Amino acid sequence: MRIVLVGPPGAGKGTQAHFIASHLAIPRISTGDIFRYNVTHNTELGAKAREYMERGDLVPDEVTVAMVRDRLAEDDAQAGFLLDGFPRNVPQAETLKKMLAEFDSRLTVVLELVVDEDEVVRRLSGRRTCRRCERVWHVLYDPPAQPGTCDDCGGELFQRDDDKEEVIRHRLEVYNTQTAPLIAFYADEGILVGIDATGPVEEVTSRALAALGPYLR
Ligand code: AP5
Repeated sequence: MRIVLVGPPGAGKGTQAHFIASHLAIPRISTGDIFRYNVTHNTELGAKAREYMERGDLVPDEVTVAMVRDRLAEDDAQAGFLLDGFPRNVPQAETLKKMLAEFDSRLTVVLELVVDEDEVVRRLSGRRTCRRCERVWHVLYDPPAQPGTCDDCGGELFQRDDDKEEVIRHRLEVYNTQTAPLIAFYADEGILVGIDATGPVEEVTSRALAALGPYLR
């Protein structure tokens, strides 16, 4: 299966991607995680992405597309993948379509996580991420057993720089103007499925897997 997850910042894409990808035994490819890794490790790619991420703007398409092209060429992505955070605008979606067509391939389904903005702000302000395994937690909604430590791998949890209130607001504006048009784009392609992404994490996962069920081969 070749799946794209779409939804506003804080909709739970990373959280659900973790469970869905592991259930379907496909790699989870998060452009945000790849950029953050490169920023933390001071790579050339990280230097190109840092200032855009700090502001909550999209990293330029040429940088992002080249990175995704390389990642999709890796062996583990040949039998399927789950993309979290890409595409982020219609030009990226068109490029992805062409990229897959070069391999006689196409997206199977696009899963939209639907959540309102107030909930998104509550989620992002309490988010904590594991430095080691990238598992996402929430201080109130999905807390680890021991504050500050990942239950899964024992790694240290941190708060993302772009989860400050003013940057969250800007990321929402960027989503509404640049990313939300993808919903109509994929609806026109006939591959969009939307689910209510509110409620407990495990209930959202069940809804997501039920929505993807008809597309499983
Ligand atoms: P990215 O990392 O992709 O950020 P995002 O899209 O803003 O999404 P988030 O990671 O903030 O939220 P999420 O939907 O994954 O929610 P999560 O599961 O963490 O991108 C970061 C930056 O990188 C961008 O701003 C841009 O600069 C750059 N970038 C990335 N891709 C790019 C691209 N394609 N083009 C250009 N630039 C790009 O959940 C949030 C919180 O809610 C967590 O604490 C979680 O525990 C909690 N939660 C989850 N589900 C529930 C639930 N059901 N109930 C209660 N709490 C919940």
